[in-house]
Amino acid sequence: MTNSAKPINLFEYQALAAGQLSQMALDYYASGAGDEITLQDNRAAFAGYKLRPRMLVDVSHRDLSTTILGQAWQMPIAIAPMAFQCLAAKEGEMATASAAAKLGSMMILSTMATKSLEEVASVRQQTPQWFQLYVHRDRGLTKALVERAHAAGYQALCLTVDAPMLGRREKDMRNQFALPTGMELANLTTLKDLKITQRAGESGLFAYLLEQFNAALTWSDLEWLQSLSPLPLVVKGILRGDDALRAVEHGAQGIIVSNHGGRQLDGAIASIDALSEVVAAVGDRVEVLVDGGIRRGTDVLKALALGAKAVLLGRPILWGLAVAGEAGVQHVLELLRDELDLAMALSGCAKLADIDSSLVVR
Ligand code: GLV
Repeated sequence: MTNSAKPINLFEYQALAAGQLSQMALDYYASGAGDEITLQDNRAAFAGYKLRPRMLVDVSHRDLSTTILGQAWQMPIAIAPMAFQCLAAKEGEMATASAAAKLGSMMILSTMATKSLEEVASVRQQTPQWFQLYVHRDRGLTKALVERAHAAGYQALCLTVDAPMLGRREKDMRNQFALPTGMELANLTTLKDLKITQRAGESGLFAYLLEQFNAALTWSDLEWLQSLSPLPLVVKGILRGDDALRAVEHGAQGIIVSNHGGRQLDGAIASIDALSEVVAAVGDRVEVLVDGGIRRGTDVLKALALGAKAVLLGRPILWGLAVAGEAGVQHVLELLRDELDLAMALSGCAKLADIDSSLVVR
């Protein structure tokens, strides 16, 4: 890509990616549930928070590094778990992992990945990787996944709790979403013959969840999950202070405030709007992360000012992957990191610890 054609922000990646992807893949990645109200709110809500910059602070050297769960990250921007990345580029999750490793950004690998967790672990460098867990009805399968993630060196388990069933995604229903021939659930095929196949009039993924996921999962299962390995548990998909406290009481060491990118319950609160309540509820007992709608460095700054220790980036990573593979993911991360760096300089913050709640007002 020539320099003049190179995207200069995450929105430009989205526009370019749309021309690269099959309609089925684009719709699967881009769409939200129902009327996509939460999807839009996730983005729109950031505009409601205004920054209160401090002047004449020495910001000549800036440091974006942080420590999460005792692990060193070079930036407070990690990669959200996202399924089926081979739909975006043939190297799929391998390209994403490799870009993350080069930039010191933590990646969360999805249970529903199209490259195996062992392959993805092989490109890890200093920055840790986490494994996202969906709990299948077959407890033996879940146990085997957790043990494999631990053996492969993943440093936390990220349990998604907002998907007892899949949200109603009408574009996927219309497209009869299915994985193309040759693409498989790389973490699961060796454990059981599980496939996302075409179903008349419905999303194959919706049908898969209905048949395979354990919709009876409750808080008390968190203890069982933690008995399977010594990995710290991070609970993803929390939108209320009382649920966050419940997660802490059941042993979670991290909370991810998330509405699954607006893909689950339409009408759910924007994640940035849910953040303060969660942070206030858990105090400094656990680390709180947030995802949903983050497209600008100033969004990251606002999330950190509202009490998140880091943010997760979702769809823009897939857009980078679709446009230019590993280099595209790397550039997307660089763009957001550099925008955060600039936003910090312009608001009088030389390091992440300087970002406090007084920096933002609603
Ligand atoms: C899977 O987690 C999805 O949101 O499609």
